[in-house]
Amino acid sequence: MSWIRRERPAGAAELRQALYDGDVFLLPATRASLALVSLATELRQAELGDPPRRAHERFPDEELFTRVGRLRRALYTEPEAHALLAAMGGSVGFAPEETAFDPARLRAIVHGAADNPRAAPVYYPHRDTWYAHPRAIVTIWTALEDLAPHETFVFYPERFAAPVPNDSEVFDYDEWVSRGWSLKIGWQDRNASLQARYPTVLPNDGAYGRAEGFSCRCGEILLFSGAQFHCTLPQSRGLSRFSLDARLVHLGDHARGLGAPDVDNRSRGSALGDYVHPVARG
Ligand SMILES: [Fe+2]
Repeated sequence: MSWIRRERPAGAAELRQALYDGDVFLLPATRASLALVSLATELRQAELGDPPRRAHERFPDEELFTRVGRLRRALYTEPEAHALLAAMGGSVGFAPEETAFDPARLRAIVHGAADNPRAAPVYYPHRDTWYAHPRAIVTIWTALEDLAPHETFVFYPERFAAPVPNDSEVFDYDEWVSRGWSLKIGWQDRNASLQARYPTVLPNDGAYGRAEGFSCRCGEILLFSGAQFHCTLPQSRGLSRFSLDARLVHLGDHARGLGAPDVDNRSRGSALGDYVHPVARG
């Protein structure tokens, strides 16, 4: 029996509360999630060709970064991707008229890239809340193809509501976006991660308790609180891994102060103002 739940509560409010309480859900693909995956796959095909998971064999590092960067920018900024993401959230109980979202980011976990210092922040164990997101944040994640457990990431459930020594105070949202959004989307400056400070754990005994991983099918929808402590797994078996993740905030819950425990987050500012809000979607 997996720790991750495969069925969601019938009510949207119950689902959100379960997420705030630390449950993680992996739900069947929906028409909307498959439509977003299909858009991402088409764009990826145009930039990276076939087979996409071996693109690192065909392009030098710099060119791969540029191509993936164009993909990331398109998926993060284009209205079509926003509409598909809103529909995907709606398909699992996050009504678009009540939900603000930080658009989808394409993640390319490139084979062998864990050795590259530029990519280091990708592999930091972290909570998404350390990036100045509110306690009501729910991360919605899907993969562009079926993935085995060693190709995804792991949660440390025992740390969900227990503090982890960290330096999240280094993260100041306003400073992060002050020179435009290239850093936020990660599409322009290849050396950005060498200069910017990203929150991570402080040296400690690394005893985070048991790690819970998962496998998934293309387009299945993983939902978890952004307060979950988790860590991306490096890829070293020849294939790069592609996924999409975005952040949802139920605005009513946020206004009521609902959300997950906030035990060790000291990041500054708030990303919520730059989310795509229901009024802006018209
Ligand atoms: Fe994360």
